Amino acid sequence: MNQPSEKKIIIAIDGFSSSGKSSMARQLAKSIGYRYIDSGAMYRAVTLYAIEHGYVAPGRDPDVDAVEASLPHIHISFAIAPDGSQITELNGRNVEQQIRSMAVSQCVSPIAAIPQVRHALVAMQQQLGRDKGIVMDGRDIGTTVFPEAEMKIYVNASPQTRAQRRLAELVEKGVATSFEEVLANVISRDHIDRTRAESPLRKAPDAIELDNSTMSIAQQDAWLIDQYHRIAGLK
Ligand code: DC
Repeated sequence: MNQPSEKKIIIAIDGFSSSGKSSMARQLAKSIGYRYIDSGAMYRAVTLYAIEHGYVAPGRDPDVDAVEASLPHIHISFAIAPDGSQITELNGRNVEQQIRSMAVSQCVSPIAAIPQVRHALVAMQQQLGRDKGIVMDGRDIGTTVFPEAEMKIYVNASPQTRAQRRLAELVEKGVATSFEEVLANVISRDHIDRTRAESPLRKAPDAIELDNSTMSIAQQDAWLIDQYHRIAGLK
């Protein structure tokens, strides 16, 4: 557990979709007593709002002007469930389940590529991290949101490994889909996330790279805690 006298740091974990970064970030935050923020959930919440208002749909380009105009009406907050997990709220409504749907996954990358959406969410993320003691995961946390973060991790794994993991999650939630559909979504999101003009996914020069394709969850968590102790000067 984090001791009150310890110097708090910012931990940025970036990587591809379904690389396991959210689970590892959440577990690290829990182990060291830090706050965990899933920045992807924020892009997903904006996307859900846009779907519900007819500004975007799977296979259709977003109405960028309408999405930008609606930003002042989109309020995202986080609550904590009794089991300690994060609940994403959109205008006060629990949308944690809905933002994980296949429709949101299919529409989120084009929404996340809109510069005004990014500016609004990056400002909110920076505000959430102003007191440090935070683990945030996403695509541009170590490069754009907190370029000064003391600890930066860049997570990678093959598209097949990631699609397999995502499929297992969706099957567990009872979502009807196939490996091919999930793999196509992973590959298409990788492409958009890497090639968009505004804050594309890339490794910060000072980030530590982790390829977890062949690592167990336990190995990965132990590796991360080790990095934290080293960087926070506890070792
Ligand atoms: O991590 P995730 O799959 O829940 O992220 C959903 C989408 O949001 C993903 O396609 C890219 C985008 N995203 C982003 O552009 N920047 C972030 N910091 C986090 C997510």
